Amino acid sequence: MSKLPVIAIDGPAASGKGTIARRIATALGFAHLDTGTLYRVVGLSVLRKGGDPADSGAANTAVESLDLSLLEDPALRAHSTGVAASKVAAISSVREALLSFQQDFAAHPPGGKGAVLDGRDIGTVICPAATVKLFVTATPEVRAHRRFLELTTHGTSITEAEVLADIRARDARDSERAIAPLKQARDAHLLDTTHLDIEAAAVRALDIVLAVLRT
Ligand code: CDP
Repeated sequence: MSKLPVIAIDGPAASGKGTIARRIATALGFAHLDTGTLYRVVGLSVLRKGGDPADSGAANTAVESLDLSLLEDPALRAHSTGVAASKVAAISSVREALLSFQQDFAAHPPGGKGAVLDGRDIGTVICPAATVKLFVTATPEVRAHRRFLELTTHGTSITEAEVLADIRARDARDSERAIAPLKQARDAHLLDTTHLDIEAAAVRALDIVLAVLRT
């Protein structure tokens, strides 16, 4: 059987990669995995037990008994959960424990047509042989503004300056960690969404993917 197409989409927080990944998956009829939700489940699970997400013991316990019911928990998208996720994500044993789940999804996607995975290390570590790789980015200020609007719409009380400080801290943690840091794969197409709204960004991304799939 020939290999199914895999679309790898990486980028920092609030770059638009999640929405772009969903749009591409819908347009192509491919299955989509938002890999950030896995790290969020681990982070939230540690927080719920009163643990420190940077503590490898607490994070390992959470990843060993992965509570997938948390995928439906509204707190999964909370700001504090994103921060906790980026702390557990820097622990190598956590990343190793989640590796095969992600690679199995890419190799055997539900629906059997193809897979779209979005995250930080899809094109570099999880699926280095992906059919198409996109690296979606935007300036920290623009991303902070988007995330601020998203959070305040959902009732979170936070200032834009606080969101920007957290985005910068998270970027640094994600890019500077020793294992699977956030970085553009050499063969990834760069999509800078700083001056694009999400509609324009999704159209641009789908154009890139279709052009590669047609070759
Ligand atoms: O939506 P947002 O970009 O804020 O976060 P997310 O994609 O849900 O990811 C939350 C955190 O998980 C990130 O800050 C990363 O530290 C981590 N993550 C990762 O290390 N590798 C991935 N493939 C996906 C997420």
